[in-house]
Formats: sequence, C-alpha cells, structure tokens
Amino acid sequence: MSNIEQFLNGKLQERKDNLSIRNLSAYNLPVDFCSNDYLGFSRSVELKKLIDETVATVPLYLNGAGGSRLLSGNTQYTEETEQFIAGFHQAESGLIFNSGYDANVGLLSSVPQRGDTIITDELIHASIIDGCRLSHATRYKFLHNNLSDLEAKLQLAKGNVFVVVESVYSMDGDMAPLMEISNLCETYQANLIVDEAHATGIFGKKGEGLIKQLNLTEKVFARIVTFGKAMGTHGAIILGSKNLRHYLVNFARSFIYTTAAPIHNIIAIRSAYQLLHTIDHQLIHQKIGLFRKLIKEHNINALDSESTIQGILFSSNEDTKLAAGTLQNKGFDVRAILSPTVARGKERLRICLHTFNTDDEMISLVKHLKELN
Ligand SMILES: Cc1ncc(COP(=O)(O)O)c(C=O)c1O
Repeated sequence: MSNIEQFLNGKLQERKDNLSIRNLSAYNLPVDFCSNDYLGFSRSVELKKLIDETVATVPLYLNGAGGSRLLSGNTQYTEETEQFIAGFHQAESGLIFNSGYDANVGLLSSVPQRGDTIITDELIHASIIDGCRLSHATRYKFLHNNLSDLEAKLQLAKGNVFVVVESVYSMDGDMAPLMEISNLCETYQANLIVDEAHATGIFGKKGEGLIKQLNLTEKVFARIVTFGKAMGTHGAIILGSKNLRHYLVNFARSFIYTTAAPIHNIIAIRSAYQLLHTIDHQLIHQKIGLFRKLIKEHNINALDSESTIQGILFSSNEDTKLAAGTLQNKGFDVRAILSPTVARGKERLRICLHTFNTDDEMISLVKHLKELN
C-alpha cells in the first residue's frame, strides 16, 4: 500500500477506534426527527406546484446558469429575488450565495483584514471557522453565550472588530443573547454578524428571523440567512448594506469563482418565501412546546432550547450510538452527534422538530427516550 493510502487508513482507523467514524447513508427512516426541514417545505407538494408553475413561465429557461454571476450566470430575476428577500428581512440589500457554507466563507475571508479582529462564540459553525481561517485577521473565541468573556475579548481587539454569533445554535438549539451582544458591540464599536440559519422561518412574525423579532435590524452589520433548512430549498443570502453587497461582489471569492445557481433554484427559493406568507406560524411553536413539556414530565436529560433543535444528552459516543440505533430500529430517524463534533461527555441525539411531526409521534419518541436516557 502506498504511503498516502496508509495515511488515509490510519486516520480512518483512529475514528473507528473512538467510535466517531462517519458513513454516508442513502436510507431514511419513516419518522423524520432528523432533517432541518422544520416547516415541511422540502416535501411540500404545494411548493413544488408553485415552482413548476413559475418555471413554466420563464422565457429562455436554462437548466444550468452556464457561468458565474459576474460572467453569464446572472439574471434580472435573481437580482429581483435578492431585493425581495432583503425587503422581507428588513435589510437594505442582499447577495445570494450557493450555500450557507459559501456565504460564511466568502464574508469572513473577505471583509476582515490583517490587523482586524474577529471574535466568535466557541460553538460557532464550521463554515464561519473556515472563513476566519482564510482571513488574515486575528481571531478570538469567547465562551458560549458568555457576555463577560465576550467583553474581555472586545477589550483586547484591534482594528475593525467583528463579533460573529448564531441566533440559534445548530447543535445546542439555544439562542444567543442578541440584545446584550448588540449593546456590547455598540459600546466597543464592533460590527455584529449574525448567522440566522436555524432561526429563519421559525422566529419573527412571518419567519423573518430573530434579529427582526428583536428589532435589531439596524444594529447588525451582516446577517446570513440560509435556504436549506426551514425554507426547504438550497442556498443562502448575506443581508446588509448596498455597500457590503457591492464589496462582496468584488472580493468574496466563494461568490466570484463559482458557477451561479440555476434559475430553477432561484425560483424555488422565491416560491418558498411566497409559501412562508401562507402558513400558520404558531404551529411549529406548538410542536416545540409539546415536546418540551413531554421531556420535562419524563425527566429526560436535555439541553435547554426553545427552538426546533432539541439535544438529548448522553455521556459517551457509545451510549449515544446505542440509543440512536435502538430508536432507528423502531422507525424514528434520529441521529447521534458524537465527539469531536461536540465536546466529549456532551454527546447527544439531535432531535429536530417539524410541523409535520404528529403529537403521537412525539409522545412515542419521548417514551422510548425515557427508557434509554
Ligand atoms: C449555523 C449554520 N450556518 C451555516 C450553515 C451552512 O449552510 P448550508 O447548509 O446552506 O451550507 C449551517 C448548516 O449546517 C448552519 O447550521
């Protein structure tokens, strides 16, 4: 075996040994407590119909964009969609990226410069960490949701300062104390960047996200809204000033050097926003409320979360995998989140709640969890 194959095998063996090996699986179980399709848009027949009807009206429809946005891949429809989405979230402007990963990498790698400072929550998403790694700015981490640690890091910061948080954390489901963080940013003249991936569609009167719900739209420098979760489609938008948009068009490499999303995808995104206006926005919160009540009643060891993401804690990769396997055998699609993705001793089942999960499914899941937790 060649040296490189031996290296690959060795690294994989390490993961097998500590029970953290990842494998792709193309098979989904009947009861979805795992996907980020919180509002059921991904499976929505109504959304599919809306998309199909709009696609049929597009003159000179292209299956692929044929180039990057700066070359042949831009359309008036895409730019109108960006303006429409920015308006919905009460932002001046927006620029669509091919994914939330691309958006975060593009923003963090291009805006903060050498001599600047990026301060991120310790639980920030990998796409933000990767963006910071591509930047020449200094990066500090602050303890999760810990305001005094954030302030200590703000006191050390130099140059243009950026504080990056998620409004709802993707693995813990808890929220950032956005009011207090925004006040600190104001005091220290730092620029606040908020990733709204798991708040979009869920919080705000019509799903505009937590920043709009808390009336902080004027206080943030940039927001990242992703479409692959509650919006049921794919892609992301960075919301901010017109100036920021123009800067990203010029400097964000993950925007510039990639083929634009096909028009079909842009139509899907815009249609999902149309659908968002028609749904009952209380339903998802009723589901979250019921699940919280059930796990409290059954005294289950869970993270405190008012979002669609509910973490049920176990104390090792082995226990978490065992629990996931047992529930999967009963038809529940639940996934184990193992260390090193989360801290050792905080391994968990990441239960995602959806509008389409029936009350009976939740009651049954919690009963089984009680036997395992
Ligand atoms: C907080 C957060 N930001 C960004 C992303 C990346 O978004 P996308 O899946 O669109 O690349 C995710 C997805 O896992 C996420 O959870």
